[in-house]
Amino acid sequence: MSTLLLVVGVVVGVAYIYHHVVVKGARCTSKAKLYGKTVIVTGSNTGIGKTTAIDLAKRGARVILACRSKQRGEAALEEVKRESGSNQVVFMQLDLGSLKSVRSFAENFLKSEPRLDILINNAGVMGPGRTEDGFGMAFGVNHLGHFLLTNLLLERLQQCGPSRVVNVAALLHRCGTIDFPLLASNKDLVSGQSAWHNFRAYCNSKLCNVLFTRELANRLEGTSVTCYSLHPGAINSELARNASPVMLMLLKPVTVFFFKNTVQGAQTTLHCALQEGIEPLSGRYFSNCTVREVYAKAKDDATAKKLWELSERLCGLA
Ligand SMILES: NC(=O)c1ccc[n+]([C@@H]2O[C@H](COP(=O)([O-])OP(=O)(O)OC[C@H]3O[C@@H](n4cnc5c(N)ncnc54)[C@H](OP(=O)(O)O)[C@@H]3O)[C@@H](O)[C@H]2O)c1
Ligand SMILES: *[C@@H]1O[C@H](CO)[C@@H](O)[C@H](O)[C@H]1NC(C)=O
Repeated sequence: MSTLLLVVGVVVGVAYIYHHVVVKGARCTSKAKLYGKTVIVTGSNTGIGKTTAIDLAKRGARVILACRSKQRGEAALEEVKRESGSNQVVFMQLDLGSLKSVRSFAENFLKSEPRLDILINNAGVMGPGRTEDGFGMAFGVNHLGHFLLTNLLLERLQQCGPSRVVNVAALLHRCGTIDFPLLASNKDLVSGQSAWHNFRAYCNSKLCNVLFTRELANRLEGTSVTCYSLHPGAINSELARNASPVMLMLLKPVTVFFFKNTVQGAQTTLHCALQEGIEPLSGRYFSNCTVREVYAKAKDDATAKKLWELSERLCGLA
């Protein structure tokens, strides 16, 4: 009996400490106000994108919710306005799985909004299928759509400097690889469509996010635009929605207790968007509101440059 109690006590204790140290994590401590500034958050109708948007709206920013679904985007618009108490929030349709949609979003935005101070490339997908242009879903949405979007908005960011680009990557970039010949022939970084391929495709796209950030920083050196990539933590969001029902059932108890909620999950994004003085760290990768080292493959300038040049060709910029 007493052994059982001891075991239970130890398990509860370890879980409690784990929850407080690992799950809760650091908070963004910046008190920055954003009156007169404009921010875009992609994929902000749910998950950490939505809580990021609410926080930025509370700080006075004009916040553009760039979401693919008009219905979900407009529902989020009401919620972000209500939660933040701000009416400086706008929904603009953006489907990152369509290069045409990315171009028309950028065109609309540049026509109707005079400023851009912070671009937060947050939207992400782990799942099957192809984009409108035939790219693998994760590569097309998580990397290529954001690559094109950023390039189309770069001039406006430069005009409004100091300004920032924040790319929400993931720790799973460590499992990623970039097979350039496969990408050129298959419009994807994986060759199949199983759940395992989708997972691999997600990891690969997140490695692209980290490398894109690095090359972007190299190209922006000496300008007033800086950029950062990050891991937001393991978060209880909708990201696993494409998993099988059995998998979701098994995941549920784990995610509720061991994963961050979306407010906790937005902290590193906010840190990268707001923290004063991190400009010398442009191009680097953050986690738990701290800059982190990445493996050699995620800071390989030659690969980053090659990915940039191929991405330019794939989305018709070059
Ligand atoms: N959750 C985690 O544990 C975790 C860990 C590491 C990194 N991340 C990263 O964090 C970011 C946010 O994810 P989350 O956890 O908040 O997931 P989420 O709840 O699934 O939110 C993802 C958002 O991306 C949007 N999106 C998906 N495809 C899109 C497209 N084609 N065009 C425009 N928007 C699109 C979704 O819109 P719809 O609602 O219309 O689908 C949704 O708003 C992602 O980049 C993800 O990779 C998450
Ligand atoms: C995150 O940062 C907080 C505060 O700086 C620290 O207490 C915590 O241990 C860190 N967690 C991890 C997983 O590094």
